[in-house]
Amino acid sequence: MPKISIPKIREMKRDGKKIVMLTAYDYPCAALADAVGVEMLLVGDSLGNVVQGKSTTLPVTLDEMIYHAEMVVRAAQSALVVVDIPFPFFQLGADQAIRAGARILKESGADAVKVEGGENRAQTVAALVEAGIPVVAHCGLLPQNVLREGGFFVQRQREQLFRDIKAVEAAGAFSVVLECVTKEIAAEVTRTQSIPTIGIGSGAGCDGQVLVFHDLLGLTPPEQSRVPKHVRRYADLAQIISDAVLHYANDVRAGHFPGDENAF
Ligand code: KIV
Repeated sequence: MPKISIPKIREMKRDGKKIVMLTAYDYPCAALADAVGVEMLLVGDSLGNVVQGKSTTLPVTLDEMIYHAEMVVRAAQSALVVVDIPFPFFQLGADQAIRAGARILKESGADAVKVEGGENRAQTVAALVEAGIPVVAHCGLLPQNVLREGGFFVQRQREQLFRDIKAVEAAGAFSVVLECVTKEIAAEVTRTQSIPTIGIGSGAGCDGQVLVFHDLLGLTPPEQSRVPKHVRRYADLAQIISDAVLHYANDVRAGHFPGDENAF
């Protein structure tokens, strides 16, 4: 499969073809998603939640993002790899955002960065694009603002969302993630604006969809087993892994593993 380019993502919107994005944080999972033709792999700072077990994305460092991105890039034969700029490099303004974005592209080989914010951060988006760093914007619910907002809430401010989307598109973002925006607003934005929209919790009217890898596969420990409304579980890997590990432990304890066939 040929490498997915940024013009290809724009073309998919024009042609009405749905864009599939999925998060990835390591080589084997990225390779599996790439092999089935996922167009965009997102090394999300959600790795703070699903890989590191933290309660927010705020503690994730730039070095950690680069560490995970490098593995995903090595696995991606065709998918376009997008990497989150972690808190607070984008919020610090153009200079810090460009330094962080450039490190991500140079040290991991990724194709683009993702940044959280709209109208209020459009100048920084423009500075990144001007510096040659392709940008996916992220509007609606912004997980990096969780402390200020006091939680995660559905986004219903139509006028502000339109201002955000128009501003990031004018600043040169080639696509935008819409998180937890009501489905009517997300569909209207998608219909009326030319920037490709990738929804998460924003309904079927978006140009594409993104899910967190571990959510899609049910790869969450029992204490995190509540399935958010926007997630569809396509597998229950937590159960499969628990069963397999228990089976192994029982075999060791009973002297059934290793067998003769496993010995030299
Ligand atoms: O960090 C992440 O995985 C994200 C997605 C939820 C869009 O930003």
